Amino acid sequence: MTTIPTDQLTTKDIPSSEASDTDIIRFAQTLNGYTEVGGEASELGKYIGAFDGGEGAYLRKMDAGMAEALPLNDLRILLFARQRAHYHQGGGWPDGDPVMDEMRVLTDVIRRRVASPLADLSVWVGDITKLDVEAIVNAANNTLAGGGGVDQAIHRGAGPKLLESCLALPEVSSGVRCPTGKARITPGFDLPARYVIHAVGPVWQGGDHNEAELLASAYQSSLDLATTHDLQSVAFPAISTGAYGFPAADAASIAAATVRAFLSEYKKPMRVIFVVFDEEAERAMGRALSAQV
Ligand code: APR
Repeated sequence: MTTIPTDQLTTKDIPSSEASDTDIIRFAQTLNGYTEVGGEASELGKYIGAFDGGEGAYLRKMDAGMAEALPLNDLRILLFARQRAHYHQGGGWPDGDPVMDEMRVLTDVIRRRVASPLADLSVWVGDITKLDVEAIVNAANNTLAGGGGVDQAIHRGAGPKLLESCLALPEVSSGVRCPTGKARITPGFDLPARYVIHAVGPVWQGGDHNEAELLASAYQSSLDLATTHDLQSVAFPAISTGAYGFPAADAASIAAATVRAFLSEYKKPMRVIFVVFDEEAERAMGRALSAQV
């Protein structure tokens, strides 16, 4: 079984998500993490230390969203580790085969990443504060003094230093630290993410108060900050679609169009994850992304 170096993987090496278990396992074996070209067995060792029981059990906590945030080489090592776990378990696990499911998820993420190494856009249903990406975007208000919704979740996850860092930012007018349609960046403190980009979306007032342009500008300002900080992975919530009442489908179309236009021009690796918190938002974003292909 020859080992394919990470940077030489091509989509023809990678099975489709409908492939048989055997094909997925065979692909995982070619990723032999023990002999990662140029690396050492320690490539796998860094994950073995994190396992909660046997080889690859670490991934029991892994899901597609968390896998999205990992570099390609880490994904290959983890898929290899899961294959070893599957092998040691004798192939089938008592309660169905969750290991096979996780191997399928990892294979799917690897294939999409290899297919578009530079620009990668995905949707993930979950709590944005859990994502281990370089920056998560906060749907803030213009005081940057915290609030409810995702703002509250992010401040809770980051700890009190986040509010201190926000309040230390200069006011641009009385009580306003970040105008609508703009964004500011702070460290992520206790969050897995290194940075928080605080973006202020518009309040929906019926659609004829420049809301679409202001929402697009909030996404663009966030991406501009990611660029100036040379970040390679950014996760967005559905800005303005909660307390600010922006219709989910319209907001998703604006978000998808703004980010796609940016990625088509951006010449460095950048992964953008749209984090949605419920099924309706997931459907809206899925429709928006497929509508623009
Ligand atoms: N992870 C991901 N998405 C979340 C989370 C979370 N933990 N919590 C909420 N959301 C989703 C909501 O379901 C909604 O789709 O984030 C989206 C934005 O909702 P809000 O947080 O209400 O943000 P917004 O509509 O932009 O209103 C901003 O609300 O919380 C205040 O201080 C904030 O004044 C500002 C206003």
